[in-house]
Amino acid sequence: MSVTRSRIVGCGAYLPERRVTNHELAGRLDTSDEWIRTRTGIGQRHIAAEGEKTSDLATAASRDALTNAGMSPDDIDLIVLATATPDLTFPASATQVQANLGIAHGCAFDVHAVCTGFIYALAVADNFVRVGQSRGALVVGAETFSRILDWNDRGTCVLFGDGGGAVVLTPGEGEGDSGDRGILSTHLHADGRQRDMLYVDGGPSTTQLAGHLRMEGRDVFRHAVVNLAEAVDEALGANGLEGRNVDWLVPHQANRRIIDAIARKLELPPEKVVMTIDRHANTSAASIPLALSEAVHDGKIRRNQLVLLEAMGGGFTWGSAMVRW
Ligand code: UT7
Repeated sequence: MSVTRSRIVGCGAYLPERRVTNHELAGRLDTSDEWIRTRTGIGQRHIAAEGEKTSDLATAASRDALTNAGMSPDDIDLIVLATATPDLTFPASATQVQANLGIAHGCAFDVHAVCTGFIYALAVADNFVRVGQSRGALVVGAETFSRILDWNDRGTCVLFGDGGGAVVLTPGEGEGDSGDRGILSTHLHADGRQRDMLYVDGGPSTTQLAGHLRMEGRDVFRHAVVNLAEAVDEALGANGLEGRNVDWLVPHQANRRIIDAIARKLELPPEKVVMTIDRHANTSAASIPLALSEAVHDGKIRRNQLVLLEAMGGGFTWGSAMVRW
């Protein structure tokens, strides 16, 4: 049998225990619950405990995804971890996840495309699976952005949270109807001319320190709406679809107003948009797999439905994926 597509056969999630509300932040910063909610849709975020690393979040989400898929770590021969907040400069945090899961075969590496990281990682793993180089792939997005935030900068620190999400991909073998399910397309973009609008002011080759996140929020917002509209058009066009054909939009959760703008463009009612930003805030590469996992576990996303994923992040990077569930 030939491999026609890779399929998402399991989803998992992990959020650190500690929740920090807008009110708590307003107690130590010149901000308010009202400002954060109306400008972003965020109500709270989860923050990793001291000593809790990105690989810990990624491992917990991966275990959850494997359980959901009914698979064991032995079935995994590829781990692609999307993160901008690795445990260490090297080795890749994916190798720590591999070790935590007790896997000693196959390959494991990180992909770094900030908030678009999960779409990039999914595209990479999809290609591995479709050419027959992987029979079981874990695609993970995990971040501890709390470690690179300037907690005195109200323009950025209120926006982000920590978390991890994962999916398991396997080859979708078969003919006829079953061959139509799986990842239908992925589209990736980058434009490094805009790298100064959203970046971290540190790193091993410059300051030797981890640095802090810096963002021109208003400019990023403007580019996000334009780039994401382009990315969803591309996904629809490549598959001969229209917005109304989409059953679920699972967007990167950066700002509720950005998500609403894309949903309006697709003419999708709010009931068809998976929204987690109110509880998770922006978890960068983790936000899409966290939202996917929630929607699957809640029984919202069902077999044969069309699911559209989109994201935009530092670089700039942006992209989309169309999936027949
Ligand atoms: O995930 C990667 C991609 N990232 C994004 O997509 C983020 C995109 N950007 C955004 O989501 C929004 O631009 C923000 C939420 C960051 C900011 O919202 P905005 O409506 O664009 O506000 P603004 O930056 O234009 O700031 C408006 C005002 C300013 O005060 P003045 O200059 O009008 O007096 C800010 O100083 O709001 C002030 N402000 C705050 N006030 C209370 C900024 N942050 C806060 C805050 N609390 N936390």
